[in-house]
Amino acid sequence: MNGSDRKSWPQAERRGPRDRRSGAERRNEAEWKPVPLEEPASAAALIAAATGARLHAQALYSGFKVGAALELEDGSSITGCNIENASYGLTICAERVALVKALSEGHTVFTRIAVVADTDAPTPPCGPCRQLLWEYCGDIEVVLANLNGPAGSHQLADLLPLPFDNRLLK
Ligand code: THU
Repeated sequence: MNGSDRKSWPQAERRGPRDRRSGAERRNEAEWKPVPLEEPASAAALIAAATGARLHAQALYSGFKVGAALELEDGSSITGCNIENASYGLTICAERVALVKALSEGHTVFTRIAVVADTDAPTPPCGPCRQLLWEYCGDIEVVLANLNGPAGSHQLADLLPLPFDNRLLK
């Protein structure tokens, strides 16, 4: 919702049961400020979820721990962390763990993914993860963060230009 929408809210709607004014504000009309009910969610909660998931990373071989949180339509998220093993090549990235968890639980609509690693420069999804995210999530926002907070945001289409996908399988 943008600023002009807020200004044009009808009075009746402002005073509905979801009116979030405090008691004091309700008594003082001069202080009245509408609180948007559908403000785009901040990435903070998604980053926090990914940061928490990172603590479960099984990164015995690389020591490089990654957490991811894939946001669902309702604003909740499904998390993942990287899972390594002695064969190295069977490693699964945090993003793919989050994705397969979500798909296996029946979720099919995704809005954003946050990826968190302990690096100064943001850690973007690797090539295979970009491919799978594109296949199942489409052009979602990819929020990158390190342990200090947000470190950048990209549309997946920019990270995977000229994708191979099922539109070509005719
Ligand atoms: N890794 C991820 O989990 N996600 C990324 O976006 C980059 C890399 C993992 C895979 C491996 O366990 C470790 O980081 C080092 O590559």
